[in-house]
This record gives sequence, structure tokens and C-alpha cells, in this order.
Amino acid sequence: PPPGWTLEADVVVVGSGVAGLTAALRCAAGGARTVVVTKARLDAGSTRWAQGGIAAALDEEDSPEQHLDDTLVAGAGLCDENAVRTLVTEGPAAVRRLIAAGARFDTSRGTGGIALTREGGHHRNRIAHAGGDATGAEISRALVEAVRAQGIRTVENALVLDLLKDAAGRAAGVTLHVMGEGQHDGVGAVHAPAVVLATGGMGQVFAATTNPAVSTGDGVALALRAGAEVSDLEFVQFHPTVLYLGPDAEGQQPLISEAVRGEGAHLVDAAGVRFMRGAHPLAELAPRDIVAKGITRRAAEQGTDHMYLDARHFGADMWETRFPTILAACRAHGIDPVTQPVPVAPAAHYASGGIRTDRHGRTTVPGLYACGEAACTGVHGANRLASNSLLEGLVFAERIAEAVLDPAAGPDGGSAAPARPADTGAAARAVLLPASARSRIQRVMTEGAGVLRSAASLAGAADRLAALSGEAAEKRPEPGVDTWETTNLHLVARVLVAAALRREETRGCHWREDHPDRDDERWRRHLVVTLTATGA
Ligand code: SIN
Repeated sequence: PPPGWTLEADVVVVGSGVAGLTAALRCAAGGARTVVVTKARLDAGSTRWAQGGIAAALDEEDSPEQHLDDTLVAGAGLCDENAVRTLVTEGPAAVRRLIAAGARFDTSRGTGGIALTREGGHHRNRIAHAGGDATGAEISRALVEAVRAQGIRTVENALVLDLLKDAAGRAAGVTLHVMGEGQHDGVGAVHAPAVVLATGGMGQVFAATTNPAVSTGDGVALALRAGAEVSDLEFVQFHPTVLYLGPDAEGQQPLISEAVRGEGAHLVDAAGVRFMRGAHPLAELAPRDIVAKGITRRAAEQGTDHMYLDARHFGADMWETRFPTILAACRAHGIDPVTQPVPVAPAAHYASGGIRTDRHGRTTVPGLYACGEAACTGVHGANRLASNSLLEGLVFAERIAEAVLDPAAGPDGGSAAPARPADTGAAARAVLLPASARSRIQRVMTEGAGVLRSAASLAGAADRLAALSGEAAEKRPEPGVDTWETTNLHLVARVLVAAALRREETRGCHWREDHPDRDDERWRRHLVVTLTATGA
């Protein structure tokens, strides 16, 4: 339907995690009329759930160069080194600005400086954390407060539908489906010459994930429909240690932060054997793809589907002060980590790929920017290093604001006046899927495109996803948030499976049983996808 209400702005930010709110705060501080639209409440996205922390070379003994090295190793040959250099050199100052903006990080009892811990793949202690294991919640609190204090206009419960473009093909705003927000109820539009997609990840495309229910790949799906390039979708990171709640567990699962291993927890099998020793020099603190594979392999050898994380030696005091969130989550499920090993298994955690951007967050559609998990800036390559994601959100959101505020900042400067939308055709072209298809998509993806993949499993997944499109065309469901989310999940699932099928090698978090080796000659390159064409 045509928009029932409209707002005018200089920039519309879609999403309200660390990336979206940082972009909004910077744009507004620079004088841009800024509107934030977000699918649920301002703090409902993944940022709030981040536990371990935010990585930055803040310690005297550390350096951006060492952070760069660790990031490149984890990325398994596919990081964009310039993007990583930007991340690690601008990161420490960005974290300090976050602190100046009100985020309170844990400090070290000895020095009074920021307390830093270690996570998988890091050779230094460089993870800053807050509230023990509630880092994201504190960052979210500080940013939401700052957005409110600055009086930035926000529209909550607003699912983004599609990109508006002007006659020249530039971004000109977004259409939205809003529920329960009074004057902005129903389908509406925000017109703005700069659109920032900070919609987060797509973990809900799998049956078990650490991501909240809102992570349905909306920004990536919108970008695909708008003709933007998307890259590296096959690189889905499975977090190795998620609380195991049984083979039929669905939706968001409790995360057991990598920081628990950083503080000395052991991964053991049912017999108490530390199986990661000997598998990698960093043992439990190897990059997370190695740990996820180690767990999956050992479980398969032993005819089970989970392993255990043993941190009984922390004692009750340390559990209560350092990991209060995780302790409470385990106890809520009847497991006491103080007295028993915690059952764990990998679950979908992070999309290393996303909407392809340059180092100022520009996508291939003029006026359309992306940051945070929705984006593929090139910093993660084939596997994201732990705790680099909050940092990426911060650093690249600030850079987007530079580009939005300064039309001369690069080839893709914004126009001064909001352009009028001329084409809303993309929305009309999407075939809506019924909400009932969601759990089928999730099962298909976990079975066919999960931690272990093969040509046969992926081709089977592709066929089953294609069959769902056929059924959808017959059912013609009513447009609504559930149907749009399911439609978005289906689109990103199809693109993800196609890329995973095509990449005939094992690299980073993409593990092909039928191609168990890394193949630099053929595959040290990115798979870049648009809706109409797929090319490398
Ligand atoms: C964790 O706390 O283990 C998650 C950190 C991350 O995904 O970067």
C-alpha cells in the first residue's frame, strides 16, 4: 500500500544497536536531521546480548599491529587488510569516546585502569567488559540514554520494508510497517537522502542461535532487493559454547561467553578429557571456528551432540562477580556451573558477511550505507575474531557519519535536499512467505547448511527452500511483520546456501566435509552476490 504517513530527514538510521545508535548520535551531533527507526524497542537487538566485550589495543603492552595480526589470522586469508587496519587503529579512541559518552567498563582492582580479558584467537588481554559479562547491555544503556538526551527522533516497532530510490537511482528513504506507535501506525515512509542500515544479523535463519528473535536479516534482504551487493554470506560463525538445552532447542539460546574460557575454563568430554589440547596451540582459546569444529568432531566420535565446559575451579565468588549473567542463565535451566560442568554445543552466532561496503560504510547503491553485523566491511574475512563486532559497529558507524555529514568526503556525497521517491517497485516484487514457513526454513538451514556442510546437504537445502517459494506463491499470505520477517529469512537463506554450495573448500567458519582443505588458488576470493547476478 502507499505510505500512510511520512517523515522528512537528512538521514534515516535503521536499527538501534551499537552501530545504529553511534551513527545516529554522530550524524545528529554534526547537525543532520536524524531519525532512528527500529523493529522493536530501542534496546532489543543483539548488542544488548553481547557478553564477552569489546576488543581494542588499550593495554600498554598491546598494539594495533598485534590486534591486526590476530584479526587477519582468524579471517583465514579473506580480510581486507586496510579495513582491519582502520578498525584496530581507530578502535582504541572510539572505545574511549564511548566511555566519555557514558558507558561504564569494569576496572582492574590493581591499576584502576580498564580491566582487560582474553578470548579465542587473541594473543593479548584486550577485551574490555562491563558488568562482568553484561558488556552489550551497558553499551546499549549508555547509547540509548545519549540518544534520548540529544532528543533524536526515534520510531520503535517499525519493521523496515524496502528502500526508496529517486529517479537517479540514489537512496531516498525507506518504507516501514509500524505497529502500536500512534500517529505512525501502519505503512509509512521516512524520506532522506542518506539511509544507514544497521539492522544486525540473521541468526534466526538457523534453528538454534545466540541471536534474539529480531535478528532476521532484514537489512541484508532489503539491500538485496534494492540491488546492492552482498558478500561472504557463507561465512556464518557458530559460537562454540552455547548452553546445550537438548536436540530440539529452537530460537535464542543462552551464550556461555568465550571470556569464561579466557578466564581459564576447560572444555572436556563426558569422560573429563580436555580434547582441545593437542588440537591447537591455543587449546580452548583457539579461534572459534577451530573450537566449534573440535567440539563437533569430538561429539561425533563419541556419538553425542554436546561437550562440557568445566569451570568449577572458579568457585562461587568468581562466578558471581565475573559472570553473573551466565551463572543466572545456567541456574535458570537447572545447571549450577559452580558444582557441575556445563553442557555446551555450537549455535549460529554471527554473520561475518553482509552488505558490501567501503571503509566509509558506502554500499554499491548511492546514498545507502551499512554498518555493524548487517555490513561486510571486510574486517572479518572468513571468520570474525571474538569481540571485534562491537568495535566494528562503533568505528564504521563513526565513519559513516563523516561521509553523511561531508558531501565532499568521497565519491558518494549526499545531496543537500531530500530526494523524492520515484520507485517503490522492489517491495511489490517480493513474494511474501507465510509465517508458518519460518521454523521449516530454520530446520532446513541447520540440517543442510550448519556447522558441517557438503554438496549434498547444501543442494538438499537449496531444493527445500525453492519448494517453499512455490508453496508461498499459492498461499498469498497477508503482509505483516511475521510474513515480512519470514520472507527476509527465506531470501538470505537462499543466498547463503548458494554461496556455501559454490565455495568448494573449507575456510574459516565455512566447513565443507567434501572439500576439507583450504584452497587458496581457487578460493582466496569473495563471493559477491546481487539478486539478479552472482559473480566472484
Ligand atoms: C562471547 O562473549 O563469547 C561473544 C563474543 C563475541 O562474539 O565476539
